[in-house]
Amino acid sequence: MTYTGKWALITGASAGIGAVFARALSVRGANLVLVARREDRLKSLAEELKAAHAIDVRIIAADLAVDDAPDTVFARLKADGVDVDILVNNAGFGMPGVYTENDWQAHRDYLELMVTGYAHLTHLFLPGMLTRGYGRIIHVSSVAGLVPGSSGHTLYGASKAFLVSFAQSLAAECDGKGVHVSALCPGFTYSEFHDVNDTRSLVSQMPKYMFMQPEPVVEGAIAAVEKGHVVYVPGIWNKFVVSLMKALPRPWAAAMVKRQSANFRRQSI
Ligand SMILES: NC(=O)c1ccc[n+]([C@@H]2O[C@H](COP(=O)([O-])OP(=O)(O)OC[C@H]3O[C@@H](n4cnc5c(N)ncnc54)[C@H](OP(=O)(O)O)[C@@H]3O)[C@@H](O)[C@H]2O)c1
Repeated sequence: MTYTGKWALITGASAGIGAVFARALSVRGANLVLVARREDRLKSLAEELKAAHAIDVRIIAADLAVDDAPDTVFARLKADGVDVDILVNNAGFGMPGVYTENDWQAHRDYLELMVTGYAHLTHLFLPGMLTRGYGRIIHVSSVAGLVPGSSGHTLYGASKAFLVSFAQSLAAECDGKGVHVSALCPGFTYSEFHDVNDTRSLVSQMPKYMFMQPEPVVEGAIAAVEKGHVVYVPGIWNKFVVSLMKALPRPWAAAMVKRQSANFRRQSI
């Protein structure tokens, strides 16, 4: 499968899963729009991928927790005549702590990045995809969006559950119109995620089989969106966890997550 001549916009392309999406789509011939805050990282990735694959790469340094950032991104691309065919909504981070430990501004910015920003970018780019009869949208959700909410990282599971439901609704609305929408639900994945939220030393004590490299996560997600799979969980361990949580009566599953997250929080103090 190739994407030669298509344009792919990837948010959170300066690191981790987003940077791997950029590499995987560039190998398939897509032109890229890379979005994140760290412009230096975006520049060096853009130079590398342009040289390696003879593609066009644009970078837009933007803080997607700012409410008009999606409009600015859209306006820049419209002015440049770039029509986005593939949207990877990926930028994100984890905010440790129980709900009242973080102030409202932090929660508001978090929701802007992890929920409103994803919905807003989709609202801006989906109409063009529908008009052209071709589009691919991947929302990077998480296993956390498919299991009961935990104590701590309060809005994380909620924001990821939103993305699963949002992808399901969009997929139903876009059925038969050439636009495929998927929610990618990874579990623990090697990236900068746990350095940014300062849980690296804690998660390094967890068994290695619980972690995946980002490359198979991304390759699986691209294959899944092409096949029209709406919810994709990469990896045997993650599939097992999600299936177990679905099979258990809801109160049992919630009790298991509650106990696990309480242990996690105790160890992190
Ligand atoms: N790693 C895991 O275990 C895991 C598991 C399940 C789901 N996920 C999800 O995967 C996605 C990618 O995370 P990752 O693991 O690749 O983490 P990562 O390596 O820390 O990358 C996060 C990316 O998001 C960008 N970002 C963060 N805040 C932003 C903002 N305000 N505006 C614009 N860009 C912003 C970062 O770029 P800048 O700092 O340059 O802005 C970076 O490019 C997230 O949605 C995360 O929730 C991760």
